[in-house]
Amino acid sequence: MTALHLVTRTVTATAPADARPVSRPRGRSPGVTLRELRPGETDVLDAVFAGLSDHSRYLRFHAATPRMTGAVRRQLAAVDGRRHLAVAAFGPDGEPIGIARLISRGGTQRSGAAAPEAVGSLRDAELAIEVVDAWQGRGIGRRLLSAVAARGREERYTRLVADVLSENTGMRVLLASVLPIIAVETDGHETTLTADLRAGTPACVAA
Ligand SMILES: CC(C)(COP(=O)(O)OP(=O)(O)OC[C@H]1O[C@@H](n2cnc3c(N)ncnc32)[C@H](O)[C@@H]1OP(=O)(O)O)[C@@H](O)C(=O)NCCC(=O)NCCS
Repeated sequence: MTALHLVTRTVTATAPADARPVSRPRGRSPGVTLRELRPGETDVLDAVFAGLSDHSRYLRFHAATPRMTGAVRRQLAAVDGRRHLAVAAFGPDGEPIGIARLISRGGTQRSGAAAPEAVGSLRDAELAIEVVDAWQGRGIGRRLLSAVAARGREERYTRLVADVLSENTGMRVLLASVLPIIAVETDGHETTLTADLRAGTPACVAA
């Protein structure tokens, strides 16, 4: 269990009863805006969580997740723009439709303290993304990933590490389409993908 999944694994990581492949509607995303998530914006978290199907929640949290606990909600809202940063996407009417986040490997650290993963030349951040089902397949995940990767570069992270369910083809393909994958490790039903953040061109969060 990594910092980003944040769900006590009291439920075994089996697919919920209504698990189904994600359908992939075609079309792009006019009117969608991105901006960095501010500390304490639990309303944005709640709206995105509400828009995820049981299957998407299972893929995101690696367990059946009918609701977010208060502790998880607070932790996901506790962005600081440095060791924990997130970019959110909003639909044409301003409704939250997706979030991509990075959390420094090593956990939240006191401001000003040396980051343990900064020792040496590599700085790792864990990656998680979710897009509400109604907007999946329209390029939002790619835009969010590009934007959060750009922010990660600004914060001098050098690698993104994503723990995904091995069956999560969408996330695996998405990550590989945006960044070079430099390591793949599979342990049971989970696969850890490591991507090189030093490659690629900077993107603008407010795209
Ligand atoms: C994975 C996820 C973030 C992708 O977001 P998205 O907005 O649907 O992805 P995009 O539309 O930007 O897709 C970008 C590319 O990723 C790949 N991709 C995305 N979903 C895919 C799928 N289900 N199957 C195959 N490829 C897929 C494709 O290459 C796609 O490019 P294309 O549309 O030109 O073919 C989204 O499906 C999601 O939130 N899933 C549930 C939560 C989750 O699995 N999170 C990841 C674990 S942390």
